Amino acid sequence: MSGQEVSKTRFDSEAATWDADEKHLDGVEKAFEAIKQHVPAFSAEGGDAKDLDVLEIGCGTGLLSFKLAPHVRSLIGVDTSSGMLATFSQKISALSTTPNLAAVNVLVQDPDDKHLQAAAADLAARRPNGGNEISASNGKYRFDLVVSHLTLHHIPDMAALCGVLHKALRKGGCVALTDYEDFGNEARAFHPKAKWEGVERHGVRKDEIEMVMRAVGFEDVRIETPFVMQKKVEGEDGSEVERDFPFLLCFGRKG
Ligand SMILES: C[S@@+](CC[C@H](N)C(=O)[O-])C[C@H]1O[C@@H](n2cnc3c(N)ncnc32)[C@H](O)[C@@H]1O
Repeated sequence: MSGQEVSKTRFDSEAATWDADEKHLDGVEKAFEAIKQHVPAFSAEGGDAKDLDVLEIGCGTGLLSFKLAPHVRSLIGVDTSSGMLATFSQKISALSTTPNLAAVNVLVQDPDDKHLQAAAADLAARRPNGGNEISASNGKYRFDLVVSHLTLHHIPDMAALCGVLHKALRKGGCVALTDYEDFGNEARAFHPKAKWEGVERHGVRKDEIEMVMRAVGFEDVRIETPFVMQKKVEGEDGSEVERDFPFLLCFGRKG
C-alpha cells in the first residue's frame, strides 16, 4: 500500500472517535484563533469575513470547517477519507439552517476538478447573488482563502499542492495553513512509530515551505509560530512523556 492508501485506511477507522479526542479539539481551536489573527479579512470589527469563499484541504470530520463557516460566505472541505467525510455529512444533516458549507471526496490536484466545481456551484446557487463570484476569465469558481490544519504532513508533494492552491485562489486571495513544525529529530515523536507509514513527513520545515510557497508565486509569505501543543508521546524507553510541538501558520497571498 502507498503512504496515501495507508493514511486513508487509518482515517477511515479513526473517524468515529476523532471528535472525542481533546487534543484534536484543542489544536483546532488554536488553529482557528491563529487564522483569525493572521488573515487580514478577519480583522474587521466583529471578526467576520462574510465575503470570503474558503477552501479547506483535509477537512476531516469538519472540526475547523464548522468553526469557520459561520464567519465566512462559504466553505468547501476536501478530504480523501470517506469515513471522515461521513461524519462531516452527519453534521451537515443536523444543521437547522441552510448550510453554507459542503465537503467532497477529492485528492486536490486540480482546482477545476468537476466535484469541487459542482460543490462550489451548488453553494453559490443557494445565495441570492448565486454565480456572481465566477471568475470572468475562465468561468471557474475560485476561492478567497485556503486553510488546512494538520494535513500538510500527509501531502507527498508540497510544491505540487502549493501550485494547485495558488491556482485555486482569486487574485488577492490568501492561504493560511497550520501544521506542526519539523524542528528536528524530536518532531518524529508527534506520531507513534506505528503510524509513521501513513505520514509523508514529520512536520513542516519552515525554510522548505517558505521556499516552496515563494517558488509557486505566493507573495507576502510569512511563516509564524502561533502556538505550541503539549502532547504525551512515546519516550525513548517506551514510557509516556510530555513534549512540546510548535505549530506553524504558513501565510501567503496571491498577488
Ligand atoms: C490529521 S487529519 C486532520 C483533519 C482535520 N483537519 C482536523 O484537524 O480535525 C488529516 C486529514 O487529511 C486528510 N488527507 C490526507 N491526505 C490528503 C490529501 N492528499 N488530500 C485531501 N485530504 C487528505 C485525511 O483523510 C485526514 O482527514
